[in-house]
Amino acid sequence: MDLQLKDKVVLITGGAKGIGEAISRGCAREGAIPVFVDHDKEAGERLQSELQSAGGKSRFIFADILPAENCLAAVEQTLGEFGRLDVLVNNVGANDNVGLENGSPEKYVSSLRLNLFHYYNMAHYALPALKKAQGCILNTASKVAVTGQGGTSGYTSAKGAILSLTRDWAAELLSCGVRVNALVPAEVITPLYRQWVSTFPNPEEKLAYITSKIPLGRRMTQPAEIAAMVLFLISPQASHITGQHVFVDGGYTHLDRALT
Ligand SMILES: NC(=O)c1ccc[n+]([C@@H]2O[C@H](COP(=O)([O-])OP(=O)(O)OC[C@H]3O[C@@H](n4cnc5c(N)ncnc54)[C@H](O)[C@@H]3O)[C@@H](O)[C@H]2O)c1
Repeated sequence: MDLQLKDKVVLITGGAKGIGEAISRGCAREGAIPVFVDHDKEAGERLQSELQSAGGKSRFIFADILPAENCLAAVEQTLGEFGRLDVLVNNVGANDNVGLENGSPEKYVSSLRLNLFHYYNMAHYALPALKKAQGCILNTASKVAVTGQGGTSGYTSAKGAILSLTRDWAAELLSCGVRVNALVPAEVITPLYRQWVSTFPNPEEKLAYITSKIPLGRRMTQPAEIAAMVLFLISPQASHITGQHVFVDGGYTHLDRALT
């Protein structure tokens, strides 16, 4: 299937590592132009030089996406360089374990800032260009939005809000033809995930326990498997899909617990 993404400009937050990196790479493979914003300079520059030596167009923007002015700057830089913006992929986030007992009102707000506010800011600033391009927005959420996890109020409420915003923005933008969908991962092996597992006394044992609970294949989802669905959802081939929450999780969230 031709995804018809050639020359589409795709702005990806947190696009240098993990799920975002897989999306950046997938866009490049499809002939699109990934513009990836990341605060990891080394990883961003490495990816940029790799993508450029493969012959495609891409741009790395070194920035912290949390301040609203950096969101505006990322959109402006993209438009300044490529003259258009077709797709926004909101992807930066981290499960920071700010819970009821182990958190505080201040930490809760910080967690929302890390996981939620920049999704709105990016969409707000990108919207005029997305309307012009008849483009779309893809929000990365998490299964914690529907399952909870315990001890992570900030992250969970941010991801829940991201699912709600996906519906609200899809409704708001119907009349201008801008589609909005959410990708919902559960257990994906990324640098962030490896770092989290390494905090347990026996990481290998912990990882084996988690994978034993993943129904399809008893294995972690690979970032490329998330990216494959993202590429479809942001492509014109998904032209009648909007307001959807798409789970790519090997059945982790919805299948009968008895299966594992
Ligand atoms: N890995 C999983 O199992 C999993 C599960 C559910 C949801 N998610 C969600 O997927 C998204 C990506 O997660 P991941 O596991 O790929 O994470 P990751 O840490 O491996 O990659 C995130 C990228 O974002 C960048 N980044 C982080 N904070 C930033 C900031 N303030 N400004 C700019 N760049 C920043 C990092 O440098 C990194 O390149 C997150 O929203 C996460 O909540 C991941």
